Amino acid sequence: MSLRRILTVDNAADLAVLKQKSVPVEGGVSDELRALMDDMLETMYDAPGIGLAAVQVGEPINVIVMDLAREEDDPAPQYYVNPEILWSSEELASYEEGCLSVPDIYDDVERPAQVKVRYLNYKGETVEEDAEGLYAVCIQHEMDHLKGVLFIDHLSRLKRDRAVAKVKKAARAA
Ligand code: NI
Repeated sequence: MSLRRILTVDNAADLAVLKQKSVPVEGGVSDELRALMDDMLETMYDAPGIGLAAVQVGEPINVIVMDLAREEDDPAPQYYVNPEILWSSEELASYEEGCLSVPDIYDDVERPAQVKVRYLNYKGETVEEDAEGLYAVCIQHEMDHLKGVLFIDHLSRLKRDRAVAKVKKAARAA
């Protein structure tokens, strides 16, 4: 396994990739894809974060890794290949989100409170699950990445511009 560089919005070339629409994985879950997911998980834990889409390490394919386990609990890695949202609740919920591609910026985003998702897991099996709470927030945030959408795109233009300026300033100071 190896760590991958996480693309961030302060870099114009990175941003162009993050804005790309990812494409579906063809032919199921291969060993090569599992190796990428292993790298993504290691990169996410190292960051640290709770979710990462493949496009964030420069691979615009429909793949996500997440781990929503609490710090005191054992790791619970989850892998999502070609995830689809089958149903979203009308009820909305607001949650303060952050993103490894928009470091140190946090803001409230409103999304459907519950969703039903279908995806292929690490073994290539089809799974259908109901998600709510943090799970619903995280899977929708990560699936936005697959459409080239960042959580700051849900904010007002003023807040978004301010967020990007702040990330750029921090990157220059580093
Ligand atoms: Ni993100």
